[in-house]
Amino acid sequence: MIIVIDGPAGSGKSSTAKELARRHGIRFLDSGALYRAVTLRWLEKGRPGREEFIELLTDIDIRTEADAENFRIFINGGEVTEKIRSGEIAQHVSRVAAVPEVREFINRYMRDLVKTGVYIADGRDLGSAVFPDADLKFYMDASLDERAGRRYKEMREKGQNVTLDEVRDNLASRDEMDRNRAADPLKQPEDALVIDTTGKSFDEQINEMSEIIQKNSFSKTAITKHLKS
Ligand code: CDP
Repeated sequence: MIIVIDGPAGSGKSSTAKELARRHGIRFLDSGALYRAVTLRWLEKGRPGREEFIELLTDIDIRTEADAENFRIFINGGEVTEKIRSGEIAQHVSRVAAVPEVREFINRYMRDLVKTGVYIADGRDLGSAVFPDADLKFYMDASLDERAGRRYKEMREKGQNVTLDEVRDNLASRDEMDRNRAADPLKQPEDALVIDTTGKSFDEQINEMSEIIQKNSFSKTAITKHLKS
């Protein structure tokens, strides 16, 4: 069983998915974090060329630990959960994520993972390409200015030294790359429920989505039954 949330950078997908996972007693899957982790590896390996990096993918061992609150990532045994949130990774991740072999590698990992439990996942292409048969699909959006403002606040709170302009430029250029890449671009699936969060409080938006989840029989009983079958 899987619920997916797609949308552009900074639209609030991750915090929403986390909170919904907590409320409904299911697990959170952060697909962007997987792309960030692979990008970290690419940087650590000295930014190899495409062919060389594709070969290196076979040596990457990803492990994740997911519950409702956290999505911890380990690469070849070392935890990288915090490290992958840096500005340097944000700068390069969309280029790494545009490589079809990288996408196949991560998609395979995610498809195997969701066989082990009930997940709510956030990403760009989950409803359109990775899980076209997802039980429920959301697409979240908000204006670029609102998304940039939120991400800026979040990064400053974590002590990162960025300006609002830098954050806005990074979101805009990632959106552009994510929408226009050949392999599984960011796309609003036809059968997704669109949630525009511009001007909405976090609570309002969570309540709206939570009700939809309830109506779609993602009740605790249905989930427990699914896990037992
Ligand atoms: O949280 P934020 O919206 O900043 O981005 P993220 O979810 O951490 O994803 C980082 C990057 O990974 C995105 O800008 C995309 O380039 C890529 N990504 C992707 O291509 N496909 C996904 N399913 C998820 C992320």
